[in-house]
Amino acid sequence: DKGGYKHFMAKEIAEQPVVMTEVLGHYVKSDGIQFPNQDIDFKSINRLTMVACGTAYYACFVAKYWFEQLAGLPVEIDVASEFRYREPPITSGTAALFVSQSGETADTLAALRYCAGKADKIIAVVNVPESSIARESDVVLPILAGVEVGVASTKAFTNQLMTLAVLALEAAHQRGRLTDAELGDYLENLRSLPGILNTALGIETRCEEISLKLAEARDILFLGRGRMYPLALEGALKLKEISYIHAEAYASGELKHGPIALVDQHVPVIVIAPRDDLFDKTVSNMQEVMARGGRVLLVTDQKGAEEAGDGVWETLIMPEVDAFFAPILYAVPAQMLAYYTAVAKGTDVDQPRNLAKSVTVE
Ligand code: M6R
Repeated sequence: DKGGYKHFMAKEIAEQPVVMTEVLGHYVKSDGIQFPNQDIDFKSINRLTMVACGTAYYACFVAKYWFEQLAGLPVEIDVASEFRYREPPITSGTAALFVSQSGETADTLAALRYCAGKADKIIAVVNVPESSIARESDVVLPILAGVEVGVASTKAFTNQLMTLAVLALEAAHQRGRLTDAELGDYLENLRSLPGILNTALGIETRCEEISLKLAEARDILFLGRGRMYPLALEGALKLKEISYIHAEAYASGELKHGPIALVDQHVPVIVIAPRDDLFDKTVSNMQEVMARGGRVLLVTDQKGAEEAGDGVWETLIMPEVDAFFAPILYAVPAQMLAYYTAVAKGTDVDQPRNLAKSVTVE
């Protein structure tokens, strides 16, 4: 049932504030973080290996920043299809964490089986608690996003991020990197996210307008820095998946090492950059693009829009959010720009060609 929406994807985008609230309520109680019936000891762990595919891999990529910065835990991330055949050494003190909406992705499951017996702990972050990945893990953290029908993952991504954010905070707290008061502040920020994301859904009309122009492009570039780099990757994946427009994402700083050669007036460049401590760097990358005739769509907040200066092609203004958890909020423009571009092109949004919801063969 599409609940009055034109596509499941639109419905699932709109459901995000509700399912985010649900998953927070499950893991965050009035007296702090709880992982019901699960035993996770981050003090005995010295390395975290996170493995997944597609959008779930990008959730791992965002979480890498959180775990490293908050918990001081070295994190390795990899796509499952590479990880499983590389046969990397799993050193003592390693926890292996697998993220999967379906819990049935063949490569992710194979990577998990490779780690079984080698890693100190196998952790699964899944949407389907009775899935194979969940059954074969020591610790299972459901993301409680509800059934996701659209092939393009949306609410599962934001709830994967919510779950991983809580886990990173727990790791930081256990490892003595956060005091009770500091943890309380971070949790307060997390609690405000569903409401802010609800406000962010208001960018819909602007996304629809801008997407009419994006739909004419043959190639689109996405740029992001730091915690926003994985969001650029996610935006490019969403766009190519459902609109069939060729899209690539780069870390902003990599631009001048090659990709800038692609820039001309025909290639829209989508820059995902809230006004954070790296904003100035991104602005200078943006200016390099504009100096070569590139059309920049800047996705930022009010302050960022004011500081960006002239010459920007389009600006999409997001609500203010704590910089640390901004990647969760900026999933919305990544999803909506892809959605409305696909709608403008008339493609099959929920069942894009050549793709399956669950990739159970390698
Ligand atoms: O079920 P999983 O989370 O393991 O699936 C992983 C990917 O196949 C999936 O995220 C895919 O990239 C999505 N279609 C992206 O929207």
